[in-house]
Amino acid sequence: PSKEFLYKHKGFYLLPDLTNPEYIDSLEHFVVRDSDVFVVTFPKSGTVWMQNILSLIYYEGLRDGTAKTETIDRVPWLEYNFNKMNYESRPSPRLFSSHLPLFFILQVIYVARNPKDVAVSYFHFSKHASIFEKVPDFNILMERFLSGKVLASSWFDHVKGWYTHRADYNILFLTYEEMKKDLRSAVLKVCDFLGKQLTEKELDVVVEKAVFDNMKSDPRSNYEDKTCILEKGRDNFLRRGTVGDWKNIMTVAQNEKFNKVFNENMKDLPFKFIWD
Ligand code: PPS
Repeated sequence: PSKEFLYKHKGFYLLPDLTNPEYIDSLEHFVVRDSDVFVVTFPKSGTVWMQNILSLIYYEGLRDGTAKTETIDRVPWLEYNFNKMNYESRPSPRLFSSHLPLFFILQVIYVARNPKDVAVSYFHFSKHASIFEKVPDFNILMERFLSGKVLASSWFDHVKGWYTHRADYNILFLTYEEMKKDLRSAVLKVCDFLGKQLTEKELDVVVEKAVFDNMKSDPRSNYEDKTCILEKGRDNFLRRGTVGDWKNIMTVAQNEKFNKVFNENMKDLPFKFIWD
């Protein structure tokens, strides 16, 4: 039988190679600290970008170039403990990432990205990711994406869930597109939210190091050597990093279909996505 790339636990799609139902259930007893910070996203929406920004804000050693730790060890996934880290013994403040839906988390920075670019990024990523099933053409991926048969299930439910509860859960809700448009303002929002005071100079460094080209050329910021995620030969985790890349792949018919499903699902959400 062919390999199963996703499995469903309590109605939610997860990666079988990297986690299991017992572990996910055990997270119910995970002791959250007041100082914990979570980056939550639907996959391919800017997770690694925000992981890097957060750790640049928190760890001076990264800003001045003395720390060599990779992103995954600085902001590990809650539900996918790649490097079998002991989360309980991590010193505060702990930074985590997660693709989980609404949760018990205290400080959350949620990054949403327009779903056409998410689907396209997911499609390209799946060509090189050892943990994703290879999908031969975009149409198939798009159908799966629209019906929630991808990692982290339905994009619509994910974004609506977090958006609707953004106030209750002390969430900073950001978009990939606003980060792209004005990264400095986005980093300032993150600092304000976390009560972090950086000097102008420190802020400059965070912004500079979090710009796409600089992250792309920094092996600590992408998943260069992680063959458990990326197949050997793929040069980099960071691919294109733009808004509107969907236009390079989606046909007029696909776009119409996408819009139809999007409008049906998102009609009650007063949130305007930026598409290009
Ligand atoms: S994952 O696998 O869920 O963790 O992927 P994720 O990090 O959420 O999303 C990957 C996309 O984010 C882009 N990216 C960036 N864009 C702009 N600036 C910066 N600094 C940056 N860092 C990562 C990355 O290139 C993927 O998008 P695409 O469109 O495929 O390039």
